[in-house]
Amino acid sequence: MTMSNALWKLIQRFLDDKNGMPVLNPATGEQIAAVKTYSTVEIEDIILRADNARKDWAALTAKVRAERLRDWYFQVMAYRDQLASLCTAECGKPLAESLAEVVYAASFIEWFAEEAKRAYGETIPTVARGKAVLTVKEAVGTCAAITPWNFPLAMITRKVGPALAAGCAMVVKPSEATPLSALALEALAAQARIPADIFRVVPSPEPAQVGNLFCSHPVIRKISFTGSTPVGKLLLAQAAGSVKRVSMELGGNAPFIVFDDADLDAAIDGLMISKFRNAGQTCVCANRVLVQDGVHDVFVAKLVERVKSLKVGDGSKPGVEIGPLIDERAMAKVTKLAVDAAGAGAVVACGGTPHEAGKQFFTPTVLTGVSQDMQIAQSEIFGPIAPVIRFTDEAEAIRIANDTPFGLAAYFYARDVGRVWRVMAGLEYGMVAVNEGVLSTEIAPFGGIKESGLGREGSRHGLDEYLELKYALIGGLSA
Ligand code: SIN
Repeated sequence: MTMSNALWKLIQRFLDDKNGMPVLNPATGEQIAAVKTYSTVEIEDIILRADNARKDWAALTAKVRAERLRDWYFQVMAYRDQLASLCTAECGKPLAESLAEVVYAASFIEWFAEEAKRAYGETIPTVARGKAVLTVKEAVGTCAAITPWNFPLAMITRKVGPALAAGCAMVVKPSEATPLSALALEALAAQARIPADIFRVVPSPEPAQVGNLFCSHPVIRKISFTGSTPVGKLLLAQAAGSVKRVSMELGGNAPFIVFDDADLDAAIDGLMISKFRNAGQTCVCANRVLVQDGVHDVFVAKLVERVKSLKVGDGSKPGVEIGPLIDERAMAKVTKLAVDAAGAGAVVACGGTPHEAGKQFFTPTVLTGVSQDMQIAQSEIFGPIAPVIRFTDEAEAIRIANDTPFGLAAYFYARDVGRVWRVMAGLEYGMVAVNEGVLSTEIAPFGGIKESGLGREGSRHGLDEYLELKYALIGGLSA
């Protein structure tokens, strides 16, 4: 593909055709660009510069930081179409989804620009005359983030937005697969007069080394990670050495439960978005579809019809709904899960094989007769496969849904108000959507429990992740 727009010009300074790290289009395998990378020595220097710059940044009033963040928001929105094309080129998602991602990413900058002004402390009624008891919120300090390829824009703004709003500096290592979107965000932040050292993106082909540097460097006070649970555990262990604050948004295994009393058409609409957004490559994608006996066959018939109609292809082409998987490893994993499930007794209602659109495309698939002990029900699929598990009653649905070490997102469709409350309360998940297939928004706290992570992103709680609470006792106040 050729890129020659204004955004492309802005990111030229980050490219290095001769020695850079190649960035590939997962739909075609073609190289889009090669980006400059940073050695650990160079990254260490960037960390020290960030730590130096953050004191002036934190000393600005919240109003001024908010203005800069708002300018950044406007920059991102002004380049919306070009950012979306870049995002599709490097991560493969259909253009309509990339456009939605730009808006989603920008919404975190706008939200935290507003929240910057609301980092309130409190006064606490005193226990003794002449003494005041109060709290103030202060920026955590210099932070580092490691971000994934599946939302190459939004997973950065969801971390950098609150960090900068709070008065922190942030150094980000983006995924090796999608550094261009990240670098575009850095270039647009610079256009919004956010000081260069306050937000830096450091592409590297050595993720383990950079992770270790972030987790062990004494001036980094917080590390935020979105990615797999095994890598999250490793970073947690490394960060323990210097007791850093952490936010971890890790893997999921979302149940999507359809009860007998559900509005089936609404449930199908919700499942199509929840399961097939980004070709099934999100941590909150429906991973197991639990359908109650009474509606099972009707629901599966409707689902198969819709899944067969999905248009697979290069995400930059009009009308495409399912793009490629990110790389060959992902393709091998998804293919193996489908083959293993069929071998273990699941029925392939549609799909089940790679797709002719190219090397990294998998046909949207529905499997029935899946049981909770199959590998496909135990793993985070990260691909366009909907495994359907049949259940009899509410207690069984909740038991199966909770039978996983993960606890990120859960979805269910029901109309009985008592059931809605009981099931919402019974699901051991950080986020539960009832009669809705998408729950991500900047205004609500995103995050998981159990092995799905620590901390929350978005909402007013997302700002607290970058603030320390200082208690001050002031005595000697009596006249
Ligand atoms: C993720 O997959 O990590 C994030 C999904 C979202 O924000 O909706």
